[in-house]
Amino acid sequence: MTDKKLFGVAALFDSPDSIVNAAKKIKEAGYNNFDINTPYPIHGMDDAVKAKSSKLGYITLFIGFSAAAFIMSFMWWTLAINYPLVVGGKPYFPLPAFVPITFEFTVLLGVLSTVFGMIAVAFNLPNNSHPLMDTEYMKNVSSDKYGAVIEAEDALFEEGKVKEFLKSLGGHSIELIYRPEEVKHKVFEPKFVIFLAIVAIICAGSTYITLNKLMYITPFDFMMNQKKGSAQAESSFFSDKHEMRKPVEGTVARGFMPYEFNGVADTNQFYGNPLLPTKSVLELGQRKFITFCSPCHGNYADGSSRLRSQFPPGPTLHSARVIGFSDGKIYNIITNGQNVMPSYAYQTTREERWAIVNYIRVLQRAQNPKPSDFTAISEIKKESGNVQN
Ligand code: HEC
Repeated sequence: MTDKKLFGVAALFDSPDSIVNAAKKIKEAGYNNFDINTPYPIHGMDDAVKAKSSKLGYITLFIGFSAAAFIMSFMWWTLAINYPLVVGGKPYFPLPAFVPITFEFTVLLGVLSTVFGMIAVAFNLPNNSHPLMDTEYMKNVSSDKYGAVIEAEDALFEEGKVKEFLKSLGGHSIELIYRPEEVKHKVFEPKFVIFLAIVAIICAGSTYITLNKLMYITPFDFMMNQKKGSAQAESSFFSDKHEMRKPVEGTVARGFMPYEFNGVADTNQFYGNPLLPTKSVLELGQRKFITFCSPCHGNYADGSSRLRSQFPPGPTLHSARVIGFSDGKIYNIITNGQNVMPSYAYQTTREERWAIVNYIRVLQRAQNPKPSDFTAISEIKKESGNVQN
């Protein structure tokens, strides 16, 4: 066929050494448009053909830097210009806070651009066919042979000469490779492009008309015309110009019991303990006391702190002073803290705090038992059938 264009002349070689040697000779003979195909990477090939490093890196570099610049300005624009917001007392351009996102975004776009750059530029998408595809030559070099192709585009190319040259290097199965006939891609046919454009115009137009015109025509606009304040807008109604209002004073959230003695030190007279010292209450109190109080006050509330080297030890809770506290006063100390002792209101619930108070009472009583306690104990033991003591 005469109308087919010649792509190049290919030859097969039998050993890795012969192909490396051939590659070196082809390069030395002054050819530039040639290619070597081997079933696996061969050491020394890059040197033999004096391969230049890939240009793909420049795409990655360029896109990576653009990504960094873009994301930095984007963050600065959102934080300082579009909706100025002080976050955690930081300035409007908090560089250290921007670093992780900038880094991630740079890497992300760098990687994506490398992959797509390779696919689009190196593989010639959308038409990624290559004259070498589907040739005898390619079948051989992708199993057990090594091959060289000298392309017709090369300035020194002369069909007869190249054939002889390849043979002289030890090549065999010389094959003429032709370019496939140009295929017109349906995607780029004018009819299809016009069709796409019309669809795009119809979609965009109808969306625009619906959102910007139709929605403002009665009766479609009923949800648009509301008298309402948006959360962060400036108010023309309230004197402090805030649309968002604070809850009315005295409002109590569901499931939340306010503590009315905040900051009141002397609550001795205010409270009785709402929980009876039942077994389950005392067990709860013991658990919470061991968890939250024992580190400073000791397991038996005798002031044997385990944190002696780190924190002022809590005093004993067996002092006459603490024994004399009302339940409400101890509850208040747990809730508000006292001097260096911090508040435990956020670690414990109301119920747990009252249970702790009950448990402290048990610990105090155990240190100062009354004779009646012993008779009580022996009676309990008798009742449960234990007759040994
Ligand atoms: C981080 C250590 C620490 C923890 C934990 C701690 N306390 Fe205290 N507590 C102290 C110190 C220190 C004091 C003495 C405060 C002062 O100087 O008034 C104190 C004082 C007290 C007092 C008052 C004693 C008095 O004589 O005035 C009571 C009652 C008390 N703690 C109960 C508790 C209970 C109950 C818990 C567990 C919920 C607890 N504490 C957890 C360190 C602690």
